[in-house]
Amino acid sequence: MNSPIGQPLALVTGGGRGIGRAIALRLARDGFRVIVADRDEQALSEAAAEACDREFVLEAARLDLTDREAVTDLIERNQPFAAIVNNAGIFNEKGFFDLDPEDFRRAYEINLVALFSLSQTAARRMEAGSKIVNIASRAFLGARNHAHYVASKAAVVGLTRAMAMELAPRGILVNAVAPGLIDTPLLKALTPERLAAQLALQPTGKAGRPEDIANAVSFLAAPRTDFITGQVLLVDGGKSLGGGMGL
Ligand SMILES: NC(=O)c1ccc[n+]([C@@H]2O[C@H](COP(=O)([O-])OP(=O)(O)OC[C@H]3O[C@@H](n4cnc5c(N)ncnc54)[C@H](O)[C@@H]3O)[C@@H](O)[C@H]2O)c1
Repeated sequence: MNSPIGQPLALVTGGGRGIGRAIALRLARDGFRVIVADRDEQALSEAAAEACDREFVLEAARLDLTDREAVTDLIERNQPFAAIVNNAGIFNEKGFFDLDPEDFRRAYEINLVALFSLSQTAARRMEAGSKIVNIASRAFLGARNHAHYVASKAAVVGLTRAMAMELAPRGILVNAVAPGLIDTPLLKALTPERLAAQLALQPTGKAGRPEDIANAVSFLAAPRTDFITGQVLLVDGGKSLGGGMGL
């Protein structure tokens, strides 16, 4: 079992399941002491159990990331984070003409505003050499049937670039990973027809695995990665290359 003493501390939001859980397990394997923040109690215990099976420890913090007091408390009762992975996000499908402002507010509240608030509070205490990795989405380039999500993830990309510039003087590096279609519970928001249509657009013909995103995050969060900031790494099996249908 790994000892938590003397280890750099990482925080993974939405780390109870899906991509976040894979990231948390990977960072634990990389030598971080990892806190997983999630609102889903069951997901947190399943993540902790999976970590235990692999002889790692994941520390669970059950909270809603839109609760600023709870987030501040989590940050203040721990040593400064060496790495923060802002992964928690929500997704649902709705055509442009069916959307209303409330859909945008909900998507922005967790995908963008909660990410900003947590990062701002934590960054005040973070030391030079620390990393923030924001999980955006390939959808920031554009996608059908979820304009609110697309807009929120495009905003994450903009925020990542702005944070990178303002936090660089403190030695904090900020990057984003933009996943394409990844096989997680989030895909349940797609009808089988829409999922099939999405898969048909994949040059590799398949969805990615949460571990594919964890690999990219591991690289960006690593202490040796110290000259990359403000970048967006697309991990999408080539989907962002377009359809390849000729000129
Ligand atoms: N799965 C994909 O194909 C895909 C593609 C592109 C981007 N992404 C992004 O990757 C990230 C993770 O996606 P996933 O597929 O693993 O999703 P998921 O729905 O499987 O897991 C998300 C986790 O975040 C937690 N969470 C959500 N809102 C929260 C809140 N307010 N407070 C605390 N916890 C909260 C959930 O409880 C859940 O455990 C998201 O930001 C998503 O937008 C996913």
